[in-house]
Amino acid sequence: MKKQIAILGFGVVGGGCADVLYDNKQTIAKKTGFEIEVKYILDLRDFPDSPFADKVVHDINIILDDPEVELVCEMMGGSHPALEFSLAAMNRGKHVVTSNKEVVSVHGIELLAAAKANNVKYMFEASVGGGIPVIHTIDTSLAQNNISEIDGILNGTTNYILTRMNTAGVSFDEALAEAKALGYAEANPSADVDGIDACRKICILAALAFGKLPNPENTYAEGIRQITSADVANAEKLGGTIKLIGRTFAENGKLSAYVSPMVVKNNNPLSTVNDVFNGIKIDGDKVGEVMLYGRGAGKLPTASAVVADVINILTGNGVDYDFVAADNADIIPFADVKSARMVATDKKASDADLNEIADCLYTTNEISEKDFAELESKLANSGVKIVSAIRILK
Ligand code: HSE
Repeated sequence: MKKQIAILGFGVVGGGCADVLYDNKQTIAKKTGFEIEVKYILDLRDFPDSPFADKVVHDINIILDDPEVELVCEMMGGSHPALEFSLAAMNRGKHVVTSNKEVVSVHGIELLAAAKANNVKYMFEASVGGGIPVIHTIDTSLAQNNISEIDGILNGTTNYILTRMNTAGVSFDEALAEAKALGYAEANPSADVDGIDACRKICILAALAFGKLPNPENTYAEGIRQITSADVANAEKLGGTIKLIGRTFAENGKLSAYVSPMVVKNNNPLSTVNDVFNGIKIDGDKVGEVMLYGRGAGKLPTASAVVADVINILTGNGVDYDFVAADNADIIPFADVKSARMVATDKKASDADLNEIADCLYTTNEISEKDFAELESKLANSGVKIVSAIRILK
């Protein structure tokens, strides 16, 4: 027996998806009991040299009108027309699988509603953590736990940059150029280095863990452009390393999600996640800490996660994700979120909230964002300038 699917977008991940289905056809057939055939590949371009050249079409309606196509893999990236094509496919009774973190984090509620209305599945394992099966793990394997916190290194490009700054002593600009040359950075590296990509991913994880999807556009995201070699060296003095962390936690029925560079102490397993790898640490009340590690980007790892969803849906093991949009009352105001900080100053400082580590290097007690802003202006009034302040992961 054969089951037919279509691929939307024949870029890196779309091509990887076709490769995984073709290369591992027998392994997949052994598990599922049927063959999965890519009937169409939608793209604006032609691919005359590709072994899949004869499957390329340029009109979405060919796919929508074909009743043999049970499932569509959307790997176009960006919100439009990914959103419209996904909605149209579900409205025609086709399941949709995506790797597109933008469309899931911004339009996830509408897309899940369309899936429900049409009695089809909308799944997005590849949208967070590349090949790491984090969504299935949270939603299914940890379903019996109350999750209190998730901390993740969710962006491979920035982790590569920070690793190079840490281990090879190169500057941010040099490391970004290397990441671009290696093909890790997004077309527009701003999504990576300004924390936007990690922000979309932590919002998706927050939705799975806490049932409410924060709006990524209203979620605090700080990137790594301002991180210097001096910060990297100071973090080492504290017994840690700087990582771009997506953090989400729940407290008194409200949730917080944000992205920030953070000092991760060497006894935290996230400190060992280097290069383009991602690591995600989940804290459940029964299981304790679980950490997942793997390739968070790249053609075949991401395609592996896409095909996992395809197999689950076509074997009747698809999931109906169940979360709603978070409104303001569901979110802890960022001004109230507490953390300790590593603070470097231009001259010697003194305050009850500062603990001296080295010359002009301090940690603060755990204080809220609001209280830290007050501390900063208090120091400024005493003639001390904060040169750098980096949150410390608890
Ligand atoms: N640019 C992303 C990253 C790709 O570096 O992690 C995977 O989402």
